Amino acid sequence: MTPIVHHVTHPLVQHKLTLMRQKDRSTNSFRRLLHELSMLMAYEVTREMPTSLIEIETPLATMRSPVIDGKKTVFVAVMRAGDGFLDGMLEVVPGARVGHIGLYRDPKTLVAVEYYFKMPQDMHERDAIVLDPMLATGNSAVAAVDRLKETRPKSIRFVCLLAAPEGLRHFQAHHPDVPVYTAAIDERLDEHGYILPGLGDAGDRIFGTK
Ligand code: URA
Repeated sequence: MTPIVHHVTHPLVQHKLTLMRQKDRSTNSFRRLLHELSMLMAYEVTREMPTSLIEIETPLATMRSPVIDGKKTVFVAVMRAGDGFLDGMLEVVPGARVGHIGLYRDPKTLVAVEYYFKMPQDMHERDAIVLDPMLATGNSAVAAVDRLKETRPKSIRFVCLLAAPEGLRHFQAHHPDVPVYTAAIDERLDEHGYILPGLGDAGDRIFGTK
C-alpha cells in the first residue's frame, strides 16, 4: 500500500500558518488563527465524506439532494495540543462525535505511555479523524493510531499542521493505510524533538502555558 500525504497548499492555509509561526504572536491571536486553520483543514479532510440523498422541498419543487451524516464522524484529539483543533473542526461538522487520547513520553524509555482513552460507542460505524498539530518524531501519532485501530473504526485519517520528514516517514512505515493531511512539511527535527523551523511548542502556544 502506498502511503498518502495531502499537503494542503491553499493560500489561505499557508498565510495563516505563516502568521502562527511568528514568535511574537499573542496566545489570543495564535488560538484564533488555529481556529480558522482548523476549519480550512476540516474542509480538506472531509472531501470524500459519504453523502446520501434526502427528499426536500424548495420553494418551487421537490428534489433529492445530498446530505452528510456528521454523527458518523469522530474527531479524535491527541491531548493536549489536538484539543486546539477541535472547535474549528466542530464548527464545520457540528454533529461529529469526539474522542480523546492522552499520551506522555516516558523520559527514560521515550516510549509513549497512555494515560487517557475515551471513544464514542460503535466505532466500527464511524470515520475517525485524528487531530494532532505537530507530527514531530511520530512516536505519539503511531501510538495513538495503534490504540485507535483496536476500536476498529471504518476509516482513519490523520490531520496535523506541521510534519517533520522523519516523523512522517516513521508514521507512514507503521500506518501506510492512514492518509496524512498537513499544511507544511518542515526541514527536520532538532535534538530535543522539536520541528525546525516549526512554530515552537504547540500546546504551550495554544494554552499560554509557556
Ligand atoms: N511538539 C510541539 O509542540 N512542537 C514541536 O516542534 C514538536 C512537537
